[in-house]
Amino acid sequence: MNGPMIKSIVESRIEAKNIKTILFEYPNKMIPGQFFMIWIPGVDEIPMSVSYIDKKIKGITFKKVGEATDALFKLKKGDKIGVRGPYGNGFKVNGKRILFVGGGTGIGMLAPAVEEAARKNMLSTVVIGVKNKNELFFEDRFRECGAEVYVSTDDGSKGYEGFASDLAKKILSEKSFDSVLTCGPEVMMKKLLDISKNIPFQASLERYMKCGIGICGQCCIGEGLRVCKDGPVFDGETLKKTEDFGVYKRDAAGRKIKV
Ligand SMILES: Cc1cc2nc3c(=O)[nH]c(=O)nc-3n(C[C@H](O)[C@H](O)[C@H](O)COP(=O)(O)OP(=O)(O)OC[C@H]3O[C@@H](n4cnc5c(N)ncnc54)[C@H](O)[C@@H]3O)c2cc1C
Ligand code: FES
Repeated sequence: MNGPMIKSIVESRIEAKNIKTILFEYPNKMIPGQFFMIWIPGVDEIPMSVSYIDKKIKGITFKKVGEATDALFKLKKGDKIGVRGPYGNGFKVNGKRILFVGGGTGIGMLAPAVEEAARKNMLSTVVIGVKNKNELFFEDRFRECGAEVYVSTDDGSKGYEGFASDLAKKILSEKSFDSVLTCGPEVMMKKLLDISKNIPFQASLERYMKCGIGICGQCCIGEGLRVCKDGPVFDGETLKKTEDFGVYKRDAAGRKIKV
């Protein structure tokens, strides 16, 4: 296993309530949907998807949810983190018209895929769903890509009142798409898979990760698929055959828990 490269934070930005982006120098090539293992010295090492892909600079966008992300949130320009990666397979961004659906922090990792679609002159429709408008981020970034952007909030404080999957269902009934790409709560992604029917589908999954490179088996799903190595992006055909999808995952001790 490669050890982490120590990187200085070159910029950090608050994106929304409890949501922050950290940028660091990282010249390796990356595909949207790939992830890093981020080491927060003295605290933990956690998986984080790439949310900014520039030639020299890469970034992660994360929500403060527990000990590690809380410590990461407190870091500022010049502070150091350890970075391993890039890991995982990433999205295949193809087709003429793509529907992107991001829920919560899953919105962050979709941004480089929407930017790739814009570079390839594809037409993007982006649905972003959050609990309330204070948690909304990257709306302008998606619009700057020329994407048609729809917002849903659980409490109706902005845009459509309800779940992103319900808004996506409405859009899918009105327009045709060549591909659906999603990241967010697994229950949302499962609903989307069901309503996407025959449209090629890709979803980025989250499982508890330790090694990040396919050795420890902590992130296994279905018939021996490793989310860190075979994913985190899986296509619809694979997910239809994966009984765990939308049903259960494993905690840090390997116990099965509901998603
Ligand atoms: C491939 C992948 C990409 C991710 N990308 C992002 C991202 O771009 N932005 C973002 O905000 N979050 C992302 N996450 C989730 C992020 O890793 C967890 O929120 C983080 O590990 C929480 O750590 P904590 O100590 O702050 O919280 P804890 O209190 O330890 O945990 C909070 C939640 O995070 C989960 N978690 C904790 N440690 C891990 C771990 N090692 N692996 C997986 N899940 C864990 C827990 O199961 C729990 O549900 C990603 C997860 C995976 C697997
Ligand atoms: S995290 Fe170790 S096999 Fe995936």
